Parts: sequence; C-alpha cells; structure tokens
Amino acid sequence: MSTVDPSGVVAIVPAAGSGLRLGAGVPKAFVELGGVPMVLRAVDGLLGSGVVGRVVVVVPAFEVTAAASLFPGRPVAVVPGGADRTASVAAGLRALGSDVDVVLVHDAARPLTPPDVVRRVVTAVRSGLPAVIPVLPVTDTVKQVDADGVVTGTVDRSALRAVQTPQGFRASDLVRAYDAVVDALTDDAGLIEALGDSVHTVAGDPVAFKVTTAWDLRIAELLLAGASVPISAEER
Ligand code: C5P
Repeated sequence: MSTVDPSGVVAIVPAAGSGLRLGAGVPKAFVELGGVPMVLRAVDGLLGSGVVGRVVVVVPAFEVTAAASLFPGRPVAVVPGGADRTASVAAGLRALGSDVDVVLVHDAARPLTPPDVVRRVVTAVRSGLPAVIPVLPVTDTVKQVDADGVVTGTVDRSALRAVQTPQGFRASDLVRAYDAVVDALTDDAGLIEALGDSVHTVAGDPVAFKVTTAWDLRIAELLLAGASVPISAEER
C-alpha cells in the first residue's frame, strides 16, 4: 500500500452525463458492469487506492437522492451536476470543503482504472507538480482530414499521447483555473494549459479506458469476466 497520506486528497467524479452514445436508457454512470454501477466501481477504485480520502460524486439533478444511497459507509458526498462536464466539475469543486490540497478529477465512465494509476498521479502531485495526467502512447497512425474527409496531413504520433483520468491538481491551481473558465473543455488539464502552466504526465493503463459505446461496455464485461487471470503490465 502507498505511503501517501490520503487526508487532504479529494476526488471529484463527474457522473452527470446522459450517456446517449451508450444507449442504455439510464445515465451512463449508473449502467451496471458485472452487476455493479460503473460509478460505484469508479468510487471504490479511488478509495481502494489508499491515497484518496474523500470523493464528491456529481450526478444528474434527478438522480441525487437515488445516488446518495449507492455509497453506504463510504466518505462520499453526492451533488447535482451541470449541462456539460466542465459545469459538473465546477459543481464538484464548490462542494470540496476546506483542508483539501490535492484534487483528482476522475470520470465515472472509467470503472476499471487500476489503483496503481491513481497512486502514480497522487504521488506526482504530492512531489510538487501542479497538474498531472495519466497518458498512453498513440499506437494508430493519425491523419488530419478536411470537411470532406480528404486527408490533409499525417501527424507525428511519436509526440502524441492519449489522455485518461484521474487527472490530479494542486487544489488551489484547479480552483483558480475554474474561476477563469470561459469554454467547456473535455478535460481539466486543458484549463491549466490555458493559464500557461505546466501539465506533467505519468503512465496510464489500457484498463483505464473510458466506456462510451455499447462496444466498450462489452469489452469491460469481458475483462471483468477474465479478471481471475489478470493481464500483466508487460502484456498491455
Ligand atoms: O461524455 P463523456 O464520456 O466525455 O463524459 C465524461 C464524463 O463526464 C462521464 O463520467 C460523464 O458522466 C461526465 N459528465 C458530467 N456532466 C455532464 C456531461 C458529462 O458529469 N453534463
């Protein structure tokens, strides 16, 4: 278990998306994976890492009451979210409370994120870095296209990284970034970049993939079913 002290580390879990692309008829975070809602898996992964002290879960307003009963015995607060992910994270930040020095933001839609990824992020922020994100190398060739889908260029993939969560921040820096927010972004580190501050990377993990489509959910179910035979880090 990690030697990082979990007190002062709070994770915000934005779970207020509609999940239209998943087509499950309920908000994505509440879709069950192996009989357990994805958001509960995400929360238990964070708390089970041993480096997170509390979690703020952000859900659609109509789900607040139902969601509050999902986390018995856990240090979890549930708050209503906003129209987009940025607004939902902002709602989570307003519920942070005092004595918080590290904030993680972790998608509910990444229910299988290994605890090691959480520990790497928190350890790096604790070492003095203001913003830390887990990343993976891009293995596909990436093309730029125009509006007609005609290729206009080939991007050098050696300098590209795919970004996962949890993303970790010095609490004061993330609050400052959200105070200055003007547009909705798909990730929080983008706000820190917009302020001209450095964002550092640590190794992500393929198992921390985001469940977006029915195909992703199927892959997650297959991974869980085979969890008695874990895939080693070298194989990933
Ligand atoms: O839509 P996408 O998969 O990018 O959403 C990423 C995360 O942000 C999900 O966990 C989703 O529930 C959350 N989200 C949110 N509030 C919104 C939209 C998305 O908390 N309004």
